[in-house]
Amino acid sequence: MNSQRTRNGRVCRQERYPRYLIVELGLPQVIKCSSLKFYSRSEIVGSTVENLESIARKRMTVVEDTVHSFEHVERIFKTATFLAEEEKADIELVQIGALLHDLGWTVGTPHHETGAKVADKILKELGYPEERRNKVVRIVLHHHLDLRDKLETLEERIVWDADKIDILGILGIVRAFHLLGSSPFTSVVKEAFKKLTAIYPLLNTQTAKTIAEKRHRETMDLLNKLREELSLEDLQIY
Ligand SMILES: [Fe+2]
Ligand SMILES: [Fe+2]
Repeated sequence: MNSQRTRNGRVCRQERYPRYLIVELGLPQVIKCSSLKFYSRSEIVGSTVENLESIARKRMTVVEDTVHSFEHVERIFKTATFLAEEEKADIELVQIGALLHDLGWTVGTPHHETGAKVADKILKELGYPEERRNKVVRIVLHHHLDLRDKLETLEERIVWDADKIDILGILGIVRAFHLLGSSPFTSVVKEAFKKLTAIYPLLNTQTAKTIAEKRHRETMDLLNKLREELSLEDLQIY
């Protein structure tokens, strides 16, 4: 994979930040890139991380669940990279953690526990330094929604936040319909309201809260519209 960087050596913004962030936060569009871009502490570690991208991509092809496909991992990777830069975190740890965070779905449940074991094994095989490997394993192990209270480091909080941002927007509603596809529409909307409303205040970092605010507002508006239509409240205007 070619690492495309800006003139000052930074990772190109277009690729790290989803388009809506560029528009919303007024970030400059610098270079058009086509693949994930990585921060690295050294050339050796850099190639390790790039290896991890292809390992994770290949392994996740067996996951048939749309919600946890590699497409989700790519979004988390980019969101987490953005959060890490804004929050001045260790970007390499965050990127590796984000890449490996859902590998557990390829093995079995509980996926955060199986994923932590897989991540540890892969990083050991790649010769990733033990101290940093343990930090990545903790990121994977604690990214589960219910383990927010176990988060200790900024990097753990960032990957946790990035993973939850992915379910806070309209995507969250689509996800709810995907996961509860055979349930009546009204139950899915009720469940989406309950779940999304509960997650929003749990975000850890200020940057994540800022990003999620817009998504959350739009999602609640859409859910309210959906609820109106499902209950035929809108007939009252005639
Ligand atoms: Fe997960
Ligand atoms: Fe995830």
